[in-house]
Amino acid sequence: MTELSHIHRFAPGNRREATPLLLLHGTGGDENDLLPLGGAIAPGASLLSVRGKVLEHGMPRFFRRLAEGVFDEDDVIRRANELADFVLEARQRYDLAAPIALGYSNGANIAAAMLLLRPEVLAGAMLLRAMVPLSKPPKVDLAGKPVLIVSGQSDPIIPPSNSQRLATMLEKAGAAVDHRTLPVGHQLSQADLTVASQWLETRQSLALP
Ligand code: MLT
Repeated sequence: MTELSHIHRFAPGNRREATPLLLLHGTGGDENDLLPLGGAIAPGASLLSVRGKVLEHGMPRFFRRLAEGVFDEDDVIRRANELADFVLEARQRYDLAAPIALGYSNGANIAAAMLLLRPEVLAGAMLLRAMVPLSKPPKVDLAGKPVLIVSGQSDPIIPPSNSQRLATMLEKAGAAVDHRTLPVGHQLSQADLTVASQWLETRQSLALP
């Protein structure tokens, strides 16, 4: 679907009470990639899946980078704000509550940037293979916002110190961070699905009256 400001797909859920997920793909992916994962992690939840607007040698991404792991931070800020505006548009269009982001790699990084820049837009985030997106983030209040970070122990792209730094940054801002490290690399594994499903289930049951 090309209406609204970003190409996206919307899959309405059949459980109105389930928090919707905002799905954000990795480099070279698109809005179709994470729909099966989102459906498995949050059965019955509405899924809003977006395509990144930046092209790197034809591969969609959510912001420009200068090299692997070296980000154009002005572009990170601009694109995170654009994406946050899109989420607000889509919430109106589809009558949605604030979503929990489920991002992988570059998608996890833009989700982390949105948490730091536009925290009110997200109800929480599941960040699979995420890095610090901004070296000097603004002061932000994440007051109890639930965030799951899942890192790979042998990830060749993300050093453990970097994902740890992200966890500390979000925690210091007040987020309720659960940081897990799996014995895997950068690719997603079955264990990611299990960890994310359990985290989400616990969070939703805590949220029940
Ligand atoms: C990024 O550029 O966001 C990270 O290096 C992860 C990636 O997309 O490969």
